[in-house]
Amino acid sequence: MCGIVGYAGHRDALPRLASGLSNLEYRGYDSAGVALREGDDVTVYKTVGEVSELRASLPESSEATVGIGHTRWSTHGEPTDTNAHPHTDCTGDVAVVHNGIIDNYDALKEDLEATGHTFASQTDTEVVPHLVEDELADGASAKEAFAAVVERLEGSFALAMVVGDSEEIFLARQDSPLCVGHGDDETFVGSDVTAFLEYAREVTYLENGDVAVVTPDGVTVEHDGEPVERGVEQIEWEADAAEKGGYDHYMLKEIHEQPQALRQTLSGRVDEMQGTVDLDLELPEEYLRSLEEIQIVACGTSYHAGLYAAKLLEEHADVRVTVHVASEYEFKGGRDPWRTLVVAVTQSGETAETLGALRDAARTGARTLAVTNTVGSSVTRTADETLYIRAGPEIGVAATKTFVSQVATLALFAVHVGRQRDALSATEASEILGDVRGLPGAVQQALDADAGVRAVAEEYADSEAFFFIGRRLGHPVALEGALKLKEISYDHAEGFPAGELKHGPLALVTDQTPVLAVLTEGARPDATLNSVKEAESRGAPVIGCHSAGHGEKFIDAAFDIPDLGEMEPLVANVYMQLFAYHVANLKGRAIDKPRNLAKSVTVE
Ligand code: F6R
Repeated sequence: MCGIVGYAGHRDALPRLASGLSNLEYRGYDSAGVALREGDDVTVYKTVGEVSELRASLPESSEATVGIGHTRWSTHGEPTDTNAHPHTDCTGDVAVVHNGIIDNYDALKEDLEATGHTFASQTDTEVVPHLVEDELADGASAKEAFAAVVERLEGSFALAMVVGDSEEIFLARQDSPLCVGHGDDETFVGSDVTAFLEYAREVTYLENGDVAVVTPDGVTVEHDGEPVERGVEQIEWEADAAEKGGYDHYMLKEIHEQPQALRQTLSGRVDEMQGTVDLDLELPEEYLRSLEEIQIVACGTSYHAGLYAAKLLEEHADVRVTVHVASEYEFKGGRDPWRTLVVAVTQSGETAETLGALRDAARTGARTLAVTNTVGSSVTRTADETLYIRAGPEIGVAATKTFVSQVATLALFAVHVGRQRDALSATEASEILGDVRGLPGAVQQALDADAGVRAVAEEYADSEAFFFIGRRLGHPVALEGALKLKEISYDHAEGFPAGELKHGPLALVTDQTPVLAVLTEGARPDATLNSVKEAESRGAPVIGCHSAGHGEKFIDAAFDIPDLGEMEPLVANVYMQLFAYHVANLKGRAIDKPRNLAKSVTVE
């Protein structure tokens, strides 16, 4: 996730900005930069790579007492020096840093280019300084110019801007956090408090729709053009806790980030009314219509996301889909390999086996698509095309928010392909998209019920083993639930298609083996209930993740899921993540770095 830092005071801004950037490194980034306002000029230093590299390129000190800085985690455009923030206008007097995504940047950029603006980067952000430049040229003050530009932006953003002839920093927040730290005769800006915690412990949090002006004396905030008071809070956290947003582990923080990750995944891509999606893909309609098969290749959690997506694609796009563990994959594209689309699903974009499978497929003549979280990763350079899941960086080794964002992205892809192939009507597509758009809220409801999940985890943490069952879309979620639990708690956990229980695993079921069941729409809950009864009659406690009317009478502990059609099993997955987390935490495991595991597996 990108990070923002800012400083307005009477001391040298440079060391403060530099240390703020170092403190933001934990968020994950690929490039970094600062803009210093010195005299009436703005000077920008930026580079791809680590903050230490940027720091090495900076002067020892500066005259600047106002500045902004940024750590970038790419969403539009590869990680390069030019794409790093801050971005400037044609005059170089306006510098902007930005977290989030500006959905309408394409149209804005087109207009700006038509009126003579020259763009240096491939980012969405760069439209902002150029728009401000136009407003300033029309006689607006910096504050007026900034506010007018913010009005024109669609999407999610936290923005900070400095201009040559002002000693202020201009801020705007929409769906991406931004806060202001009050120091001793100096004011700081941060995408979170870690950016300035060593200098300021009193903080003002901006709210969605706020536009603010920062000076050494503090911050003034406007909302809908009217001044508002946002109050000041005292920060009690130490830096380590602050990096984790107050959570004990990155994994728990990332579980709780899922609603926000989903909003980013969906941002600007869904037209629910029309039943269409815009994924910015070049796959031509005739190609999608003539497609014979989609082969999904992936490992681990991404493989489970692929299993989920396969069912959606088969159902809604009327195309044959096979899903392959990448290490077991052998491309078979028949006589016309081009008619097979091979989709690599990988959070990191660097998993050796997934890359190997994709290369094999490409060599044999298949068309390839990467679905990844990581801009500029190896998979994006290997595949013909890339679809980003935009979940933000994931630091905990166990994948959590990226799973739900992978499935949501692929659900949009299924709707897109289904519409192009005339397999899905606009009305059917609207319904599916409505469910996908309901995900952030439904996931939030599950997160709000965390205390109940913890209580259930306390009751069953010392069990001999854990079994996870589900059917259809509940099956990949059962596999994923078991994977999460085993990798962070080191307990024996297995996932099965519910119907398979009686074909063998039932021999292991006792009163010491809780069974976690997915009892939702899209997961054939009535059939799964038969398996639940089989387990219960062997004494097993059953923990049901269920939507209304599915199975609450039969289960020992129940987690509620709102009505959300085929997206319901994804909410069950959130309960399973929380359950795994609490079991592991009660056992004192190294949750963010489980033994023997790595975040990115780059060897076969
Ligand atoms: C499990 C987990 C792994 C990864 C797998 C693939 O929590 O994180 O199973 O899902 O190593 O990684 P990516 O998605 O980066 O290819």
